[in-house]
Amino acid sequence: MNTTDGNTRREFVKQSSLLAGGLIAAPFLTKANYFSGSDDVIKVAILGCGGRGTGAAMQALLTKQNVKLVAMGDAFRDRLDDCYKAITADDVADNGGNLRSRIDVPEERKFTGFDAYLKVIPLADVIILSTPPGFRPIHFEECVKQGKHVFMEKPVATDPAGIQRVLAAAEVAKQKKLNVVVGLQRHYQNSYKELYKRKDKIGEITSAQAWWHNDGVWMKKRQYNQTEMEYQMRNWYYFVWLCGDHILEQHIHNIDVINWFKGGYPVKAQGMGGRQVRKGKEYGEIFDHHYVEFEYADGSMFNSQCRHIPGTLSKVDELLVGTKGKIYCGDANIRDNSGKIIYQFDKKSENNPYQTEHDELFAAIAKGEYKFADAENGAKSSMTSILGRMATYSGQLIEWDKAINSGLDLHPKTYDWNAMPQSVPDADGYYPIAIPGKTLYV
Ligand SMILES: NC(=O)c1ccc[n+]([C@@H]2O[C@H](COP(=O)([O-])OP(=O)(O)OC[C@H]3O[C@@H](n4cnc5c(N)ncnc54)[C@H](O)[C@@H]3O)[C@@H](O)[C@H]2O)c1
Repeated sequence: MNTTDGNTRREFVKQSSLLAGGLIAAPFLTKANYFSGSDDVIKVAILGCGGRGTGAAMQALLTKQNVKLVAMGDAFRDRLDDCYKAITADDVADNGGNLRSRIDVPEERKFTGFDAYLKVIPLADVIILSTPPGFRPIHFEECVKQGKHVFMEKPVATDPAGIQRVLAAAEVAKQKKLNVVVGLQRHYQNSYKELYKRKDKIGEITSAQAWWHNDGVWMKKRQYNQTEMEYQMRNWYYFVWLCGDHILEQHIHNIDVINWFKGGYPVKAQGMGGRQVRKGKEYGEIFDHHYVEFEYADGSMFNSQCRHIPGTLSKVDELLVGTKGKIYCGDANIRDNSGKIIYQFDKKSENNPYQTEHDELFAAIAKGEYKFADAENGAKSSMTSILGRMATYSGQLIEWDKAINSGLDLHPKTYDWNAMPQSVPDADGYYPIAIPGKTLYV
């Protein structure tokens, strides 16, 4: 527990209770509220066994608590098998050992398909939600309904209809005192927490900037005999209902930091974007760059940029500009208006926030403590990115209230390998792309 500046982490987070990582009243409950079994084992399950699900499962198993992985679910069997192989391998624990004594997932507790969540969720106390973000609202809702603690990856929805579902479920989670951590891990990262504690050194925040620029991510080619649904599910990054576009899928990390330091969410946004390089049909319907000007209620502006174009500047960072100075998140320092460094975080004190978020979540659960309610901020930072996307796709000024209440729902009516997603390709295999000035929202 860090006590810098006279604040314990508990006190610090209490002060910032609006936003993620928020310590809430922290009542102690009886263990009966927390464990399904009579022993002290915390049963965990993964839903979405891809790259992050595999990592998060390992982090859960590497905590100091008595954790056991008891069930796994994925849309596809091969993804589940790859994950199982990775987590049961040798040399995955810190000491060079394995995690096999903490894994008890026999064949009958491995589930595949769209309804895997209904079979996985009842079997554990804590559910790791790490599918593509389009499914998060449905899965989170079900976890809360069944009284489960949740670690869920960001983003938590891809459209306003999904955001509303997550916000509603977040309220129920609070009433049921279910711990919910969202994988916006900068809230659990020492450098960010130390900068946040000292944010008043820059006075009032009058503007901000954030960047997520890199080459882009993987792409999965269409295979012979795939249904349209299977193809989109495999190549999910490039479909808005599943991914939300990279302004949401990745840039949310930076957008969320600005919201956190500002202590609120923008009221409107306008911006521009398009597909300059990533134009092929294999890249579905998302843009390769977005530039958005967000405005907060106090009139302060936040310029956000994200680009997936190989050969261009790589930069993932945030900058907050205040009346008395600036916070440089990447450099982990604060400078006054003359440029003099007035606080420098010692990078030797940096932690692995991916591990910390699990350490803290499972420690709270082991103690029977209600400590984390990240879902509301996760939903509102996801909504901020969606607001930006609505602005770049439409080329219009979009207001938060109208956007979040728009009812926009990009999901198919049913989830089935033969069901049709809303966005389908033309005869040449190309998907409809948003055109600013013509596209209304999306
Ligand atoms: N916090 C971070 O820094 C961080 C880093 C990487 C990924 N993530 C997030 O984790 C999530 C997953 O990303 P990833 O990189 O692991 O992707 P991935 O494609 O490797 O894994 C997603 C898995 O979910 C499965 N899946 C899809 N639909 C499903 C459904 N309805 N039910 C069950 N399983 C389903 C897929 O088959 C796949 O195995 C994304 O939201 C991503 O943004 C967060």
